[in-house]
Amino acid sequence: MQIPCLMGAKFLFKKRSRCETPGINRPTMRLTELLFIGILSVGVTLGRLNSRQPSGYTPHRIVGGSDVPAGEHVPYQVSLQYSTRGGQMHFCGGSIIAPNRILTAAHCCQGLNASRMSVVAGIRGLDERGSRSKVLSYIIHPNYQELVTSDIAVLSIDPPLKFDNASIGAIEFRGKEFVGGGVPVTLTGWGLRLPVPFPFLDNINYPNTMQRMSYHTITNRECRDRGMESVTDTEICARGPFRGACSGDSGGPLVTTDKGLKQVGVVSYGLVVCALFISPDVYTRVSTFSDWIEGQLES
Ligand SMILES: *[C@@H]1O[C@H](CO)[C@@H](O)[C@H](O)[C@H]1NC(C)=O
Ligand SMILES: *[C@@H]1O[C@H](CO)[C@@H](O)[C@H](O)[C@H]1NC(C)=O
Repeated sequence: MQIPCLMGAKFLFKKRSRCETPGINRPTMRLTELLFIGILSVGVTLGRLNSRQPSGYTPHRIVGGSDVPAGEHVPYQVSLQYSTRGGQMHFCGGSIIAPNRILTAAHCCQGLNASRMSVVAGIRGLDERGSRSKVLSYIIHPNYQELVTSDIAVLSIDPPLKFDNASIGAIEFRGKEFVGGGVPVTLTGWGLRLPVPFPFLDNINYPNTMQRMSYHTITNRECRDRGMESVTDTEICARGPFRGACSGDSGGPLVTTDKGLKQVGVVSYGLVVCALFISPDVYTRVSTFSDWIEGQLES
């Protein structure tokens, strides 16, 4: 499946020039990336070979995640879709915060025609029907600056979702507690599952089944030290070996179950090549915006 060319409405790629830090030796980084792409190419070949075996082998996903098992639900996760000549196309993730409100990233909305946007709830596979609501309007945070701060938006949808709390339900986002490093977190979505799209492999690149992946938050200081030098307290970073968010995951929820299920991040940006061992993912820090989000529930 081709992903529609919605400029800036997918995972925003951090510009290469912004990745240069005194701490990281550029030639080494390039070499690491080349080696990594090399290893992956082999992985893809193996994946294709193995997929011919009748053993139900599943290649690794999200990047580095796995299929949400059949019969399991992620009730707060929605797919944001855009109406194109080719039909409805998934382009971003989002989370349910009220029957008629969806939390997502500002860069998933900016410049888009709301009347062509819809959300689908209650699905695990993008080919399932689920419950589709149209987007009436979106509110982008007034301080939003691309790749700088406040990459957060709230959608108003109609009809309101019917919660059964098993396949469709809201996620808790309230509370101002600042989440530090080392907290286990989980990301779900339908984004690119290879660090870069491989030509002619779209059925491997883009999953139909929702992917889930767990890793850990890191402190903002560590995030800056690892190359994301413009990260501020309005953002939270997470990182794990050869895993992470990628194109199409944008706007999706990063959650913790540390003290009850709660959303702590909204997928914002990462490096051009996703899920490098050295590169963290940057999320909008939900706790910073909890008052603003609550304000949008009332309006
Ligand atoms: C938005 O999309 C609708 C439906 O496709 C169309 O009628 C309308 O003209 C579009 N608006 C703009 C500003 O492009
Ligand atoms: C779903 O959960 C909400 C919040 O806990 C509750 O108010 C509502 O009654 C629940 N709905 C169903 C159908 O269980």
